[in-house]
Amino acid sequence: MSEPPTRTHFGFEQVPEAEKARRVRGVFDAVAGKYDLMNDLMSLGLHRVWKTYAVAVAQVREGDHVLDVAAGTGDLTRAFARRVGAKGLVLHSDINEAMLRQGRDRLLDDGVVVPSLLADAQALPLPDACMDVVSVAFGLRNMTHKDRALAEMARVLKPGGRLLVLEFSRVAAPLAPLYDWYSFNVLPRLGQWIAGDGASYRYLAESIRMHPDQATLKDMIKAAGFGHVDVHDLAGGVVALHLGIRC
Ligand SMILES: C[S@@+](CC[C@H](N)C(=O)[O-])C[C@H]1O[C@@H](n2cnc3c(N)ncnc32)[C@H](O)[C@@H]1O
Repeated sequence: MSEPPTRTHFGFEQVPEAEKARRVRGVFDAVAGKYDLMNDLMSLGLHRVWKTYAVAVAQVREGDHVLDVAAGTGDLTRAFARRVGAKGLVLHSDINEAMLRQGRDRLLDDGVVVPSLLADAQALPLPDACMDVVSVAFGLRNMTHKDRALAEMARVLKPGGRLLVLEFSRVAAPLAPLYDWYSFNVLPRLGQWIAGDGASYRYLAESIRMHPDQATLKDMIKAAGFGHVDVHDLAGGVVALHLGIRC
């Protein structure tokens, strides 16, 4: 008799692992065209501040090699490309072709020419120790095997290389009631109104609740091979930036 498929969560639902990957792809296929507009509306532009902060912490230098994982429409890719200069390299990478195309078109419109790489972060098609910096912004939450993805990011980083994980996290307790009301009432309606897809934005709210909190994620990053991990809470924990140093 064959084994039943391993199950995992997709938002608050339990689904077979392969089904999760398919449904995550469906979410980003559906929202790709309106992704940037929705980001600005949902966060009132704050996602730009969080990303600017992550870029400042990354301290990317001229000539660095940078991998932007789950890069989507490429906000971090663009900022890093401007810092590494002509001698450096930034890879714009995502598992989803629709998101990667949106990102590539936006980067080209902004005069940024970098390679785009269609790749699953859980099995990166890159050699060991080839990157100075790896970033993943608002992407880790969607991955089925976060430990595998973090181990892959560690593998491709040079010793002393830096990992930046920018992700929704656990809000401070006093903010929780308001944040929950916003997430489960406003977000899906906004998604329906602007992107014609309330379900994808309900998934966003649910997936944030299922994501490891700051301390748990810090332990996971350490377990993946990072000797030192700093955690920066942003907006009262709505978002956290984890900075890991590869040892
Ligand atoms: C919320 S978007 C973030 C895009 C961009 N980094 C940003 O901050 O605006 C999440 C991205 O993660 C990508 N993603 C989900 N699972 C992935 C995986 N296993 N490997 C690589 N990318 C993945 C999705 O395709 C999507 O483009």
